[in-house]
Amino acid sequence: MLTVPHHIGITVSNGAASRRFYHRVLRFPLLGASVARGPAHDTMYRLENAVNHVTWFQFQDQGVELFHLPRHPARDTDPAPFAKPGWRYAAFTVRAFDDFVQRLRDKGANPRAADTPEGRCALVRDPDGTALIFFEDPAPESYPLSAVTSGVGSITGIREAGLVVARPGPYIRFFDAAGLLNREVPASHGFLHELFEYSGDIVSEVYGRIRVIHLPGETFPEPADMFPHPREERIDYYPDLGVKHICYSCTDLRAFHAKASAAGVHFLFAPMRIAGGARMAYFSGPEGRVFEAMQIPAASRALSGFGGRARQSQMDLFSFVKRKLL
Ligand SMILES: [Fe+2]
Repeated sequence: MLTVPHHIGITVSNGAASRRFYHRVLRFPLLGASVARGPAHDTMYRLENAVNHVTWFQFQDQGVELFHLPRHPARDTDPAPFAKPGWRYAAFTVRAFDDFVQRLRDKGANPRAADTPEGRCALVRDPDGTALIFFEDPAPESYPLSAVTSGVGSITGIREAGLVVARPGPYIRFFDAAGLLNREVPASHGFLHELFEYSGDIVSEVYGRIRVIHLPGETFPEPADMFPHPREERIDYYPDLGVKHICYSCTDLRAFHAKASAAGVHFLFAPMRIAGGARMAYFSGPEGRVFEAMQIPAASRALSGFGGRARQSQMDLFSFVKRKLL
């Protein structure tokens, strides 16, 4: 029922600094910024009187949203450690990989690049330390002007989100209930070992674009018990820094909500209508990590996709011309 990833949400400590980093260093096409507040958002975030400065980046039909909640400081300010339960990284695909990585070096982002069984990739940290991984896209989509600017490194889509879990057992049933049935059990975890410099055992399973990672050598605190049906609600604190959720497009959100609820999935709120005629809902995984599902009208999807491609073309062309002139 969940189809393709639509966006990844990341909480940051300084909205302006992070916006600059994602836009100017990572070349994420900036499409807009807004301020979210009010009772519906307080329900969404489990906060009181929240003010959330949201920045939206759009690459083709997907995106990244940054959250900055100045009234609610993070309790957990260190998103960097790999061996820690929760959303540990967001991974994207890029075209012209070598150019993209060189730009990261030139801009002082200190990428850690590796050639791994999963492909060529590089890890950088955002200003708060959140891990962002970029994989070479073997077959990037073409869009206006991309033939002209094909040597300019730029983002092409969401590759995956990495979720370290304390107890992997409940996840098969959870993703079955959520409709993400295309389970893969990777033979290798080369990129995780190399990019995170982690030498311990890794076991992972990929559902849709979500990699559930189990670290058998680690001992974690007793996790929340949220599926099927929560014993008590223990979900991630929204202002904590790092990846907050991955959002999937959903063809029929009402039906998804009814079916997944009946199968024991805990929703933070019933499907809610938002700007542009879209509807969205947050729901919890077995250990309190938040996921999002969104149903977007075709016209809104086409409009934002057009905006993303146009912005990308503009940025690529600007970089291309600048290089020719300098
Ligand atoms: Fe979201």
